[in-house]
Amino acid sequence: MCGIVAYIGPKEAYPVVLKGLKRLEYRGYDSSGVALLNNGLKVYKKKGKVADLEESLVGKDVHAHIGIGHTRWATHGEPSDRNAHPHTSSNGKMAMIHNGIIENYSQLKNELLKKGYVFESDTDTEVLLKFIEDIQLNNECGLEEAVRIALKRVVGAYVIVLIDQDHPDTLIAARKGSPLVIGIGKGEHFLASDATPIIEYTKEVVYVNDYELAIIRPGELVLKNLGNEKITPFVQKLDLELAAIEKSGYDHFMLKEIFEQPQTIFDCLRGRLDANAGAITMAGVQNNIDQLKNASRIIIVACGTSWHAGLLAEYIFEELCRIPVEVEYASEFRYRNPVVHKGDVIIAVSQSGETADTLVAIEKAKEQGALIFGVVNAVGSSIARVSNAGAYTHAGPEIGVASTKAFTAQLVVLTLIALKVAHEKKTIDTSRFMHLLSELHEIPEKVELTLRSAPKVKALAEKYRDARDFLYLGRGYNFPIALEGALKLKEISYIHAEGYPAAEMKHGPIALVDEHLPVVFVATRDSYHEKIVSNIQEIKARKGKVIAVISEGDENISRMADDTIEVPEADELVAPILSVVPLQLLAYYIGVAKDLDVDKPRNLAKSVTVE
Ligand code: F6R
Repeated sequence: MCGIVAYIGPKEAYPVVLKGLKRLEYRGYDSSGVALLNNGLKVYKKKGKVADLEESLVGKDVHAHIGIGHTRWATHGEPSDRNAHPHTSSNGKMAMIHNGIIENYSQLKNELLKKGYVFESDTDTEVLLKFIEDIQLNNECGLEEAVRIALKRVVGAYVIVLIDQDHPDTLIAARKGSPLVIGIGKGEHFLASDATPIIEYTKEVVYVNDYELAIIRPGELVLKNLGNEKITPFVQKLDLELAAIEKSGYDHFMLKEIFEQPQTIFDCLRGRLDANAGAITMAGVQNNIDQLKNASRIIIVACGTSWHAGLLAEYIFEELCRIPVEVEYASEFRYRNPVVHKGDVIIAVSQSGETADTLVAIEKAKEQGALIFGVVNAVGSSIARVSNAGAYTHAGPEIGVASTKAFTAQLVVLTLIALKVAHEKKTIDTSRFMHLLSELHEIPEKVELTLRSAPKVKALAEKYRDARDFLYLGRGYNFPIALEGALKLKEISYIHAEGYPAAEMKHGPIALVDEHLPVVFVATRDSYHEKIVSNIQEIKARKGKVIAVISEGDENISRMADDTIEVPEADELVAPILSVVPLQLLAYYIGVAKDLDVDKPRNLAKSVTVE
């Protein structure tokens, strides 16, 4: 949540920071702001999107070679100009941006109020900045020392970046629990929440670790820990191209990412799957095969869409590997007192690799001796680094706030892991193993074919755009897909939608069914097929409108349903990777038909780095 950008060097800072903020807008878009140092401090901020800030700054003096910027997802204080970052110190000389939450901010605020400090905003960020200012005054120390002292008292998560007009050649940044990347250019440095604002300038980056402080002057980067000891920066090369983070002619990132799926799934399989040789190559799995094979239990922790991928993985792992699996919401797991044993394997599933709840959940489980295996998309992210082992999903940067291509890549990686473990454990026979490898091999092509339904789905979106509620039903492997379809619709079109196991419908939700309720069935041919056909009949008998995702040529359901979308025939274990695609398209086209900003749905942020 919240995106931060900063620049120091010979370039004009404002255009670099502004462009960076646009790239990071997926992290929050309630308000944005910049602070620039040039003969004093200038701070500009505005409620709304980065484009609103940009418009408000036309004709203003934005000349500077050092600047910081922020795009906000509100935590403390409503979205407004005054709660927008950067915040300024009482003496008006310092400005700070912050991503995260200061949990003990009210205690710090009370201390400062007693000393006569006045607050312009409702934010925890302003409290932290004034706390730093107060330490500087009382201890007569420099800013760097004051930041260090302050952070030792702070409870919570943060990335902060500060500038001070008394030190016009210095940026100070620190991190705990929220991401910070520093790009190293020629005589210049770029700071950002992720690498996307940086890649067009440099590919040399340093991922700052928790409890580290960066002191940056033109051409100089000094990293220290909170004990004031220097740390040698670990410089890495970014493996990311600019084209990957641009819309490439699509109207929205979400649509681009849906259409990228044949390629992203192919990339995810590349080098791992050899269907002819009957081999899966995954170093992260191979190196930990004994622990995986002999796991007493697998616990999958994740949030949102990634949790849905985890739920499907539960079905797959139990079926193929015969290992008991539990799927946990990371936010629940971290706060209850779960039983975790040394022999357990925790699989953390995350697109961003920065989701705060997932991160803390695995840190806790790690303390209890479990093996942490990360299934993560963002390379070098916090969850990837905390994990003992892992497999990247290789879907490339996902910018649309609603997750699409990351989800299908998660399904592919989790299926590969389950297949490899099952093969090693000999809980799958060779012919089934070979069959599933060849089914996976064919998935990119079948997703390509599935995408041909886009015009039909668009027409259905027009037909159903005004529905007030939707029900999504599926059984077995398709139940998590029903949940995912409902989540996509809620996020993108603001239509209330619920996902349910189809049989569970009779235990309550069926009361909702009338001639106004569209019910989306995920009803591809599988072992539950007869059962789901009965469920469709039950809905039709109550005049519900049935939209069914079916295997090609399923005339039986075609006759019953009001509308159908066909996907290619596939083994039931991999068919969900296909059946989710029309549901992504349906949510997208309904959102577009309702003229909503599908890449930036209200109240959401891509990377949930606060709990
Ligand atoms: C939904 C969506 C969210 C994320 C969730 C977890 O479209 O994107 O539900 O899946 O916030 O995020 P990651 O996967 O980054 O941990």
